[in-house]
Amino acid sequence: MTSESPRLRSVVRGLGAYLPERTVTNADLEKMVETSDEWIVQRTGIRERHFAADGETTSMLGERAARAALADAGLEPGDIDLIIVGTSTPDYTFPSVATQIQAALGITAGVAFDLQAVCSGFVFAVATADKFLTSGSHKRALVIGAETFSRLLDWNDRTTCVLFGDGAGAIVLEAQPGGGTIADRGVLSSHLRSDGRHRAKLYVDGGVSTTRTVGHLRMEGKEVFRHAVGMVTDVIKDAFAATGTSGDDLDWFVPHQANRRIIDASAEKLNIAPQKVVTTVHRHGNTSAASIPLALSVARDDGRIKPGDLVMIEAMGGGFTWGSALIRW
Ligand code: ACO
Repeated sequence: MTSESPRLRSVVRGLGAYLPERTVTNADLEKMVETSDEWIVQRTGIRERHFAADGETTSMLGERAARAALADAGLEPGDIDLIIVGTSTPDYTFPSVATQIQAALGITAGVAFDLQAVCSGFVFAVATADKFLTSGSHKRALVIGAETFSRLLDWNDRTTCVLFGDGAGAIVLEAQPGGGTIADRGVLSSHLRSDGRHRAKLYVDGGVSTTRTVGHLRMEGKEVFRHAVGMVTDVIKDAFAATGTSGDDLDWFVPHQANRRIIDASAEKLNIAPQKVVTTVHRHGNTSAASIPLALSVARDDGRIKPGDLVMIEAMGGGFTWGSALIRW
């Protein structure tokens, strides 16, 4: 929410990403399951994705992205007092990916924890870090989205195994004084929602206290699609209403990268011009909580996102969970 008195803002100081070396194209998948490049591109926009190597874990991907974000910010690990990792594919049931990254970076102060909101994990983590930073309790946060969804895929289910990929992205948020208007840099507004009644539409069919196995991702694709556009546009409208902005004011729309058709339909419904939409799903597939920081990284590195730009991020995922955050870069 905005007010017109001085207040702390969570300002983006650094951004980094990491993709595993192995690229898997649709042509590669044609050799593994009965599918076609044409079907995948037409239905989803995905052309290729990255898969982690054997032994390469979510925390390893997250650490690489975190180090890149720290270098970009010109900061040392010791400058960080909060780490939040959005992930649904942790290395172990416990300890958290966040504490493993904390240790790998040699950080012993502050606090690190995981946040599980599936594909909305990064938006939830940004919103959560923003609460810590703007309360004054913490100074600098590493907010990471890191996933190895390839490990959850059922290679006998062609309706899901072609959609996902692995990767990680991270931002450094720093508490800085702002004027309390939307001219401030930083997170201006965030809006989170969930509705557990939708569990069966997108879930993993295994777990510690049920099957004692990891399980496989299951999805009723049509049902997810049917709900996705309405849910994400709702939380984006909430952000517009809270800040007195509209689609015209945005410089960049950086949605969760699940499916080209969901992205295009959401942008159209919100009157966001196509040239403002950042799309990376063709190169990364759906990397769940990692997709937004990966997309931010691509658009910042190619010169599109610049300091002062108004950037809307949004996601929807299993649960269902969904959310948005409006950020002045
Ligand atoms: N290759 C070739 N054919 C396929 C494949 C495949 N990989 N998968 C399914 N098909 C076939 C089906 O068997 C079916 O054939 P039939 O008509 O002979 O029975 C046909 O294609 C249509 O199948 P549908 O499942 O009805 O395909 P649909 O048009 O709904 O597209 C898709 C499926 C792409 C999954 C779509 O529903 C979708 O995009 N849903 C949203 C999913 C999503 O984005 N989820 C992620 C959001 S949340 C999160 O990120 C975790």
